[in-house]
Amino acid sequence: MSRPIRFWIGGAALVTMASLVGAIVTSRGAAAHDAPPVELMFSNHSGVLGTLTTAGAFEGSNPFFADLGTNGRRCSTCHRPAQAWTITPVEVRERFEQTAGLDPIFRTNDGSNCEGADVSTVEQRRRAFSLLLTKGLIRTGLDGPAGAECKIADVDDPYRCRSPLTSASMYRRPLPTTNLGFLSAVMWDGRASVAGHAVKDDLVAQALDATLRHATGTPPSVAQLRDIVDFELGVVTAQVRDNAAGNLRTAGARGGPRGRTPGHPNARRLRAVRRSSTRVSSSSTTCPA
Ligand code: HEC
Repeated sequence: MSRPIRFWIGGAALVTMASLVGAIVTSRGAAAHDAPPVELMFSNHSGVLGTLTTAGAFEGSNPFFADLGTNGRRCSTCHRPAQAWTITPVEVRERFEQTAGLDPIFRTNDGSNCEGADVSTVEQRRRAFSLLLTKGLIRTGLDGPAGAECKIADVDDPYRCRSPLTSASMYRRPLPTTNLGFLSAVMWDGRASVAGHAVKDDLVAQALDATLRHATGTPPSVAQLRDIVDFELGVVTAQVRDNAAGNLRTAGARGGPRGRTPGHPNARRLRAVRRSSTRVSSSSTTCPA
């Protein structure tokens, strides 16, 4: 593989990936089909994080960075390159302070503790989004499974959402949209994985669902969904430097994203490890056996 081009970006300086990648692509010539992969570097609390794309370049025009819905959200609203393609409470609080709580992540369909919370004033917004601000959690409302032989009888409701008992709210940090080539199941509880389906197909269905739910949009085109998933599957991320241990790519160490790219012997070993571990956990909307 040809040598990646590296860019250093201070984590906090990144406002929108769309403008960032636009600048990168412009700086190195968007039409270069044989261009080497770009490696982005972000400082984080324990050192430096590297992200690489095997898709040739980080294209700002990819629909992953586009506004496909009706509430201003993009995939990159909750999957931030500088935060290892998820969000962190610190960065979310910075966004809150910079926008008085009006950044598109602060929407009441699933960003607030309770659906449809009153967010008329800054102080109301601070209270309404407290789980997002303190823990980086997005609310996922899940209906009880169809044909279930039990029903939700009672819920612990510390935020007094008073939602109907037909669904339960799960509060979850966005999973990183990187290293997805190693996935064995999609989502924390594996609910976006269909038995017998390739992970790639699950990711297409997941991208559609994310646009409908998080961005309250209409279905993207087949081509847009394919572009999003191809992009996601090309992104590889790993720590490159650790403040205590130093450079993680010297003295035979194989840290950083390059050792995780598909086809690399390291990556094959990692995939085997991922397969043998499982993320699927019991969801509280599942009835006990
Ligand atoms: C409002 C925030 C938000 C937005 C916007 C958002 N996501 Fe997510 N994403 C999440 C959360 C929360 C989860 C974890 C949900 C769960 O497991 O129940 C997640 C999980 C995922 C996963 C699963 C990764 C894994 O390891 O299983 C993928 C893939 C993903 N999102 C892609 C997308 C795409 C593509 C878009 C845009 C079309 C998008 N997301 C927009 C919050 C968001």
